[in-house]
Parts: sequence; structure tokens; C-alpha cells
Amino acid sequence: MQNTIVVGAQWGDEGKGKITHYLSEHAHAVVRFSGGDNAGHTVIQAGKTFKLHHLPSGIIYPEVLAVMANGMVVNPDKLLAEIEQIKTQGYNGANLRISDRAHLIMPYHLYLDGYEEEKRGNKSIGTTKRGIGPAYQDKVKRSGIRVGDLLYPEILKERIQQSLDSYRDILPSDQFNLESLLAKTQKWAESLAPYITDTSVLLDGMLREGKTVLFEGAQGALLDIDHGTYPFVTSSNCVAGNYSAGCGVSPIWAKEIIGVSKAYTTRVGTGAFMTEDTGETGRFILEKGVEYGTTTGRPRRCGWLDLLALRYAVRINGLTGLALTKLDVLSGLPEIKVGVGYNYKDKLIKEFPAQTHILDDCQPEYRSFPGWSEEITEVRSREKLPAPAREYLSFIEDYLQIPVKIISVGPEAHQTIQEII
Ligand code: IMP
Repeated sequence: MQNTIVVGAQWGDEGKGKITHYLSEHAHAVVRFSGGDNAGHTVIQAGKTFKLHHLPSGIIYPEVLAVMANGMVVNPDKLLAEIEQIKTQGYNGANLRISDRAHLIMPYHLYLDGYEEEKRGNKSIGTTKRGIGPAYQDKVKRSGIRVGDLLYPEILKERIQQSLDSYRDILPSDQFNLESLLAKTQKWAESLAPYITDTSVLLDGMLREGKTVLFEGAQGALLDIDHGTYPFVTSSNCVAGNYSAGCGVSPIWAKEIIGVSKAYTTRVGTGAFMTEDTGETGRFILEKGVEYGTTTGRPRRCGWLDLLALRYAVRINGLTGLALTKLDVLSGLPEIKVGVGYNYKDKLIKEFPAQTHILDDCQPEYRSFPGWSEEITEVRSREKLPAPAREYLSFIEDYLQIPVKIISVGPEAHQTIQEII
């Protein structure tokens, strides 16, 4: 395997956890470069299920380095709980490295996330309430606190005080004060110190030595702060190009960029969803695909694959291939539809528009395919798939002009059809 980036090509929850886990075996390091514990990556290995939020999927291979790079925001309470969790499942986490430049999600960021959502009223984003937006806001405002600051108590004290002062009018003083935050950060420092390092130096060295690195994206193209369905997006760049800034390594290293998409579409939170099906098919997908958020447990909105949106993801990421997940969920549907364009005010739109209000008024144009009744979870080669499933895959490839390189037909790593990589 070459140095590979795996990114979400839809609104997150595409099954990146399974795909990165599947590829992790062939890597020397697996690196998360954006987002925080708003992500929820489910990894199933030998019958054990791992719900990862911060930790890169490589964590369960002791010989693979699992790196949380500078582009991430980190909630140490949650991270430490995740480390404890994997320890109870037989992994010691000694392969974890955390960038000294990653930003901390402080307890008041969680409060501010809830506060801002409430202020938005019926225009709320439906965030995961993990403090992600406020932590990135502080980073951009240049008043964030970084993981490396944990090792310098005097600097930490000064920066926490500055933050508390700047939010004085919003934060309840009985909940947030310097003493309790300092006590908390001291505990974080003691527990996290062994993992903190300059991960840019580490990764650059590995890449120069010819080691293979897998860059694990979080969320998805349509949640990207620049390219997503703004303002109903997350607060970081989720596209492949951000791997370089998010890790502190040159953009030249990645040779393969795999976009992960479900064989249909889901979305959590509010915002446009052109091919949503609120009827029987949507319910079928929700139940058969167990479409409930890993992070929040919310039921996901479900609908058909939207190829216009997916082609947009191909372009803005420069995808070299697609990993199509959950194809097995479509077994049993008599008809399968796929969005091939949008009608907006009697005109056919060919490119994904920037404005959410335009998307809200778009009517999808569908192409219909016959379904298949056979279960396909035990199929391990593309030729053995039912003919309608093969026809569906070929249509997707023709439309997107990239190959489907991996097909997932079940949650376990072995329930995978790999074409090329
Ligand atoms: P935030 O990232 O918590 O600020 O949430 C912003 C938007 O992104 C909301 O619509 C969330 O539901 C969505 N979101 C954030 N992370 C994920 C994810 O990992 N999967 C799916 N949706 C996500």
C-alpha cells in the first residue's frame, strides 16, 4: 500500500472506521488530522467492537503508531476514557502519540457549544455538543490552549485566565473557575505526558524513511467548513488536502486518496439533504443499516445515493478511488434509485451549489435500477455479486469517473471486497 488518505465523501458516518481499520494493517502509522470526538468510528475486530472517537483506528494494532496530529481538537477527559476502554479490551495504547500543537477542548467549550446552539433557536446546527466549534473558534481567535501547554503550568494558568476573562459574561462562575480548571489540567498533564510529542517531526521522519502512513479523515466533504453545506457544517476542513496542514507534513507524500461513501446516503443534524427519503425506504435503510449515530445515538436521516454531491466530493478531494460501504443494506429493496442531478426552478443543476437555500429548493433527478433480493454479506468478489448490484456499481463508476476500489458488505473487516490498492 502507498501513503493513503481516507476521507468521508458524504456527511460523515460513511464507515471510514471500518475502511481505515481494514487498511491499517498495511501501514506503519495511522494519523487523524482533523476534528475531535464529534467523530465516531466503529471498528470490529475478531468479534470485539471498538467505538473510537479520538483514537485513530490503528490503535488496535500495537505495532502501528496511532497518531493524533495537530489539526485535531482533543477533549482529554474523553480521550482518557477511550484509552481506559481499549485497555479493558486488551490493548495498552502504548502506540499512541499526540501532537503538542493540537488544541484542547476545555470544559467551557462544551458549555459554549450548548449555549450557541440554544441561541440559534430554530436555526440550530444540531452539533454533537462536544465543544468542537468553540474550541476551533478559540484556535482561530488565537486564544486556544494547546496540548503542549499542559507541560508548562505557568503558561497554562495565564491562558486559562485569559479565556475565562474573555467569556466572563457568558460562563457561570460557579461552574468554571481558575482553580478547578488548573486542577483538572494538572491531572490531564500527568496522564497524557507520555504520549505528547512533536508529531510533525515524527511523521516527516517516517515518510522520509519510506514508511507507509495512512491518513484518517473525520466527518465528510459535505460537512467541510469551506466546501460543505454551510452553515450546517463542522468547524474544520475535512477534505483530503487538509492532511498536510493537519499533520505538518508536505502535501507530496499521499499517493492514493480514497473517498468513503455508503451505497446510499445518511445525514445527522440539520441542513439540506436532497435525496432524503422520509417514507418506507428511509425507514428500511434506518433499521436494516442500524443508522444511529455512534457519538450521539441520534437516528440518522436516510435516503438514496446522491451522485451529483458525490462527484463534488470527488473533485474537491481529488479522489483516486471510492470505498463503497453497506452495499449489503440495499439487499431486499425491489427498486434502487440514485440521484443524478438537481432541478432548481425548472433548470437542471450540474454542479453542487454553494447556497444552502438553493439546495433546499432542489428536486433530485433520479435514475432507477432493479434491486436484488439475495443477501451478499458472504460475497468476497465483485463477479459473485448479483447482476443488478454489479450494474449499480458500474453506473456509479461511469458517473464519477473513478473506480470503486473497495466494497464493504458487512461490518467485520473480512466482509470486504477489495478490487485494487
Ligand atoms: P459539530 O462538529 O459537533 O460542531 O457538529 C456540526 C455538524 O456536523 C452537525 O450537523 C453534526 O451532526 C455533524 N457532525 C459532526 N461530526 C460528525 C460525524 O462524525 N459524523 C456525522 N456528522 C457529524
